Amino acid sequence: MLSYQHTFHAGCMADVHKHTLLIRALRAEKTNRKPLNFIDTHAGRGVYDLSSEQAQKTGEAAHGILSLLEQESETLAPLKAMLGKTKENQYPGSAKIMQLLSGKEDTFHFFELHSTEFKELKNRFNLDDRIKLHHDDGFDMAYDNLYKKRKNFVFIDPSYEIKVDYEDVVLMINELLDIAPDAIIMLWVPHLPKGYHKPLMEKLKADERATLSTFRFTPMNDRAMYASSVAVWNAPEGADLEFNL
Ligand SMILES: C[S@@+](CC[C@H](N)C(=O)[O-])C[C@H]1O[C@@H](n2cnc3c(N)ncnc32)[C@H](O)[C@@H]1O
Repeated sequence: MLSYQHTFHAGCMADVHKHTLLIRALRAEKTNRKPLNFIDTHAGRGVYDLSSEQAQKTGEAAHGILSLLEQESETLAPLKAMLGKTKENQYPGSAKIMQLLSGKEDTFHFFELHSTEFKELKNRFNLDDRIKLHHDDGFDMAYDNLYKKRKNFVFIDPSYEIKVDYEDVVLMINELLDIAPDAIIMLWVPHLPKGYHKPLMEKLKADERATLSTFRFTPMNDRAMYASSVAVWNAPEGADLEFNL
């Protein structure tokens, strides 16, 4: 059974990195696009309450986005603009960002396996009839929801709670690109002292099709995440994937 819930981690430094790159990629693609088919393989609940007990308990948002709000920075402006579109203390996750930056013709498939997270996701998105919500495994099901007549945009953001996720993401991406070679794919990878990410990072560095962005930051403690990577396949033209604060 899955226990990870993103509310404990929403708005952390890694979220600032991955969500900023997601916004940049979506904005760049918007300028030249046909209708998009968004697939969020690990959607979470879409919007997170930074004033919740869970968020306060870890302090990750305080170490991340909340510590950066006063900083004047071009890098942070896109994420701050998204925060401006949600209610006070509500942090927009990948599903919300996709919805906020979408067009009328776009379609969406959001996958979430955790029952509580799925219930929250449903509460937030079930009124938008462009969005199909799947209480299902994003690793298994994404292939069936690729469309031929649309540009597919797949965001893969696992919790890596199950260690085989580090291997499954590579198999999944190769299969997605076999079916839809022009699909835009973004994969997030956490760097933790335990080093589980290292073999995956070696594979990503060796993949000539992928562009890698790595952001290093001061960890919260000596067991905590110290960097975040995002790998992008078929990056939209003009999308800036450099990230520094
Ligand atoms: C890092 S969080 C996602 C955060 C989200 N993408 C965002 O930006 O707001 C990972 C989520 O994946 C869910 N999950 C874990 N394994 C899954 C699977 N095989 N298929 C679908 N969802 C899964 C977890 O319950 C968790 O909510």
